[in-house]
Amino acid sequence: MKTVFFTGATGGLGELCVRTLSKRGWQVFAVGTNREKLGELEQLPHVIPLHANVRDMNSLKAAKENLLEYTNRLDAVVNFAGISGFSSLVEGEAISLMERLIDINVLGTARVNALMIDLLERGQGRIINCSSTAGWVASQPFAGAYCASKRAIEAYNDSLRRELMFIGIPVIKIQPGAYQTKLLSGIADEYLKTLKSTTRYQTVLRRLKFMMDKVLSAAGDPQELVDTVIKALEDKHPRLKYRKGTGFLMYLMSVLPSRLVDWGYRTLLKYPWGKHEHKERL
Ligand SMILES: NC(=O)c1ccc[n+]([C@@H]2O[C@H](COP(=O)([O-])OP(=O)(O)OC[C@H]3O[C@@H](n4cnc5c(N)ncnc54)[C@H](OP(=O)(O)O)[C@@H]3O)[C@@H](O)[C@H]2O)c1
Repeated sequence: MKTVFFTGATGGLGELCVRTLSKRGWQVFAVGTNREKLGELEQLPHVIPLHANVRDMNSLKAAKENLLEYTNRLDAVVNFAGISGFSSLVEGEAISLMERLIDINVLGTARVNALMIDLLERGQGRIINCSSTAGWVASQPFAGAYCASKRAIEAYNDSLRRELMFIGIPVIKIQPGAYQTKLLSGIADEYLKTLKSTTRYQTVLRRLKFMMDKVLSAAGDPQELVDTVIKALEDKHPRLKYRKGTGFLMYLMSVLPSRLVDWGYRTLLKYPWGKHEHKERL
């Protein structure tokens, strides 16, 4: 039986993957902090829930000890634990949000991979890291902390791949577009919080709302991503990256010159060239 240590198993995308993997006969070590959801996953065949917080190495070590009661080898580690955020980079709780995002999305992934490497070596397994469209297209305003975390995952993933190729462990990245999960719906609440507290961006944020609503309403069914993750896990010769669900506009933004993207934002937000909002308010 193939074995996988799967973080983010209690989330929108992860849970669907875990359910499919269970049906396909994988033994899944499903990792999360939500005990109720872990209890539901425990009912599935071959799924062993493990309570662990990816911010806390000791809790990950305890999960590994638990796992060792079942197996001493892994065919895969999947890093899906992650959070998002909508915030200014200079106002309010900007820095604590960024610290949390980097700690969970980036360091959490690094902790898990470093801890599980001996089991992966023994199982000749592979690592799957979850990036995002935000990891490779033009970075968006008010999504800076999330974009920075996913850019960091891209760099981390590529370095890790070029290191672990010397010991025969494939490292693969998944780059999902927008999918309807708790992670995405939370953005609307954070938008309202940011709008309420901002002292600089009232006008810009109000104008940005229609773009945000468009992206959120165009988000795909999370089930669409499951096949992609299964392919990354089961392909005999896995690709370096699996990209799914990136909208045309996002793709376009990745190939346009940066100044043109800036111009696009200014135009869409109907904001005059060279005019700063705080001056507008004076
Ligand atoms: N949904 C999208 O549109 C989208 C697009 C691109 C990339 N992604 C990426 O896909 C991954 C999964 O996202 P999702 O949409 O499924 O989000 P979600 O429904 O909000 O699930 C997030 C998952 O991360 C786990 N998690 C968060 N903090 C954790 C921590 N400190 N320790 C352990 N687990 C933690 C949660 O577990 P608990 O609740 O049990 O703590 C949950 O299982 C993320 O890496 C995200 O960046 C999502």
